[in-house]
Amino acid sequence: MKPKKVTKAIFPVAGLGTRFLPATKSIPKEIMTLVDRPLIQYAIDEARAAGIKEFIFVTSRGKSALEDYFDVAPELESALRKAGKDQLLDILKETNMDSGAIAYIRQNRPMGLGHAVWCARRLIGNEPFAVLLPDDVIAAEKPCLAQMVDAYEQTGGNVVAAMEVAPEKTSSYGVLDIAEDMGSIVKAKGMVEKPKAGTAPSNLAVIGRYILTPKIMTNLNKMKQGAGGEIQLTDAIAEEVKSGKVFGYRFRGQRYDCGSKAGFLQATVAFGLARPDLRDEFASYLNDMIALQKAAQ
Ligand code: G1P
Repeated sequence: MKPKKVTKAIFPVAGLGTRFLPATKSIPKEIMTLVDRPLIQYAIDEARAAGIKEFIFVTSRGKSALEDYFDVAPELESALRKAGKDQLLDILKETNMDSGAIAYIRQNRPMGLGHAVWCARRLIGNEPFAVLLPDDVIAAEKPCLAQMVDAYEQTGGNVVAAMEVAPEKTSSYGVLDIAEDMGSIVKAKGMVEKPKAGTAPSNLAVIGRYILTPKIMTNLNKMKQGAGGEIQLTDAIAEEVKSGKVFGYRFRGQRYDCGSKAGFLQATVAFGLARPDLRDEFASYLNDMIALQKAAQ
């Protein structure tokens, strides 16, 4: 029997974005742009492509720019219409969300990712749900969440995106303890959030895409503090390993850590080079830069 369809997604966007100060003093980090689209737009498009119909944002103070971004902009639209800029109008329309498709919930205290997800519990009810962390941008032919929906339909369990990382990097991630490795799908017998150096059960790290069963919300009700004194989503998922229903999914695609400056710059280069309208000029500039650097060495 196919499991229930996943139509709801949670986007935890309450973080302060301190790594990008001073920019994030007045703009939410999710509005920071990769080429010409804010980070959050990439996550929304990926969710849409996976069949998500309800979008739940867990926000905090100072994030109103995000709400405005997804709203209609009547003055801007009419100015573009008058100027005959139809192409721009179409681009703008892609950012509008249907009435009622988007909901904003406030997390009033930063108590961790698990807590942020738990804030959306009433909107999730007894349904499976996706979680997308907009900091993790994934370039893929078939969008990552759509790949994961297939894995979810195959397994019927909780599915987390997974990727091999260098052993010295495991302490920055949730890490899977592998029970059975079936190739792209891995059955987990444990999951540890930010393991201390040298203690990680593997180097298969959790990346910010999840498809979860409603039982995870029940587990989060316990408000158990984990790594860094925070309520961790990883711990609530790990509780389900005993039921044999936790899987890692090695997605096909390239992940960029846009929560870090170096990752954001790498993503900017990659997405810039992938754009037909920018590719030639940008590539030739990068080549010139490299040549200059080499000459200076
Ligand atoms: C969060 C999760 C962690 C996961 C990571 C992926 O951590 O808690 O399990 O590996 O996202 O980006 P954060 O990066 O928010 O500290």
